[in-house]
Amino acid sequence: MSLDAEEYFSRLKDAVHFLRDRLGEDPPSVGLVLGSGLGDFVQELRAVQSIPYREIPHFPVSKVVGHCGELSLGTHKGKRFCALSGRVHLYEGLPAAEIVFAVRVIALWGAETFILTNAAGGINTEFRAGDLMLIKDHIDLLGENPLCGPNLDALGERFPDMSEAYSPSLLALAHQCGEELGLALKQGIYIALPGPNYETPAEIRMCRLLGADAVGMSTVPEVIVLNHMRKKVMGLSCITNMAAGILPKKLHHDEVLETTQRVKQEFSALLLRIIERLEAND
Ligand code: HPA
Repeated sequence: MSLDAEEYFSRLKDAVHFLRDRLGEDPPSVGLVLGSGLGDFVQELRAVQSIPYREIPHFPVSKVVGHCGELSLGTHKGKRFCALSGRVHLYEGLPAAEIVFAVRVIALWGAETFILTNAAGGINTEFRAGDLMLIKDHIDLLGENPLCGPNLDALGERFPDMSEAYSPSLLALAHQCGEELGLALKQGIYIALPGPNYETPAEIRMCRLLGADAVGMSTVPEVIVLNHMRKKVMGLSCITNMAAGILPKKLHHDEVLETTQRVKQEFSALLLRIIERLEAND
């Protein structure tokens, strides 16, 4: 971590105090991160209060198209949730501690359950663009870990366990919700590479050999710090394209955004159903 640990922790607390002042002492029970093109989820809900990241002390702001940079607080069937529309990525040149700043703030505010979403390329050839994949586990090839540097003891231990990084009970709940909605959800391993270039076909063959089903450039740093803080995590990838070399065509960010638009109704229905069904101990 490039920042002094004490200074970083006090920045986290500044942001939490700001959110408590603006949105109330009562913390949301669920934190949501909406990945590339997936931020529209929030627009479909009523009575949501939103704050642009740039107004929140120390929040990093993404410059990537499809990431609007807004924190929203909403209630669905009695559950308060806080959604982060847009995230920052390592490829934007920020240190890993900045990448995870926003989720740490929501976790410190008091949310216990997190649903992290992303756009990803399909490696598993059974997948198709437009599929939704529940993340069972991940492989981290980002090369930078947000927990490096002095441990923030107030947040968690030095050597956090990652053997159930994605909560098995949340995974089961998500499958159940998918079935109820008639969605053919996929499940698989997410592999994170730093980007920003898409992978080469040879790299994708390597990822498949390593056991990965989908590839992306995000999510893993957040999963690591949330496990460090002993929060429960669920991961959901929107397979926006087949990864490099699988189909005879080139990859482009426009395809990623087009696919998220195509699946946004299913995606939102699934998130709402999951939020609705979360029990206090989820
Ligand atoms: N590779 C990496 N990240 C991605 C992809 C991909 O093919 N699609 C969406 N995010």
